[in-house]
Amino acid sequence: MKEDLINKIQKLKEEKNAVILAHNYQVTEVQDIADHLGDSLQLSRLAAEVEQDIIVFCGVKFMAETAKILSPRKKVLLPRLDAGCPMADMITVEELGELKKAHPQAKVVTYVNSSVEIKAESDACCTSSNAVKVVRNIDADKIIFVPDRNLGAYIQSQVGSDKELILFEGYCYVHNRIKKEEIEATKKLYPKAKVVVHPETRMEVIEIADEVLSTGGMLKYIAASPDKQFIIGTEQGLIERMKRENPGKELYPALRPKICSNMKRTALIDVYNALEKDRYEIKIAASLAKRAVKALDEMLKYI
Ligand code: 13P
Ligand code: SF4
Repeated sequence: MKEDLINKIQKLKEEKNAVILAHNYQVTEVQDIADHLGDSLQLSRLAAEVEQDIIVFCGVKFMAETAKILSPRKKVLLPRLDAGCPMADMITVEELGELKKAHPQAKVVTYVNSSVEIKAESDACCTSSNAVKVVRNIDADKIIFVPDRNLGAYIQSQVGSDKELILFEGYCYVHNRIKKEEIEATKKLYPKAKVVVHPETRMEVIEIADEVLSTGGMLKYIAASPDKQFIIGTEQGLIERMKRENPGKELYPALRPKICSNMKRTALIDVYNALEKDRYEIKIAASLAKRAVKALDEMLKYI
């Protein structure tokens, strides 16, 4: 049954000249059929570069929207319309407008986990892997950073007094759930383990970590590290991928696995339906995309 579905997906993909991009947090069966797996920055770059006519984006909505803005002539399909990112919806254009009014000298750097409307109001976007570089290089001392307060606090700790960041109260419900006490309790079980966390985690977690990395950064770090045991502060889908790719290493979540239910919505049948029925196509008004692409182009300047 599953094999049958996989064969049908492969056949449709070839017939329609489509490519499947999937984020590291997707369920294993979707990761397995993807042509490319990656973090937000890697997938954005791929979306801008791939040659196929159709991109099936297995991730959450802001990622598929980013792909569409960067590749406007391609058809971009999001297999599940209900796969959103709650953090991306936490800030409204009105709230960003108020921050801009209160800080007229500041430039706006927006985490890619955001709506197209917010991106269109921004000077630059960033992902978790290049956020510090984008902020360091932007031509302003004062920066409004939205929507993730945890990533914002991490960037501030890295850039020091060179830049002043004005933060918004958004957060990721998955990473924000990881507590310092959970890391410490896991560390008691595995005292030699290196602690590797995502910058969307709370500052109290970041402060006790050995490494703070994007999902793509974690993959590279674990593969290259001579250490054997790791406590990983991020979503479980990435931990599963790292276990498959690093059979000699021991990887533990902070006490219990943390799951992004939005990332887990996409199943093989949804990928099949997306290809078969051309659904759900991402459409963005040209005038809006034109404003948002400038901030995304700034993001793509930094690795
Ligand atoms: P990465 O860019 O590190 O893959 O993160 C995306 C994300 O949504 C984290 O929650
Ligand atoms: Fe959004 Fe958090 Fe899920 Fe990433 S893990 S998609 S930031 S809710």
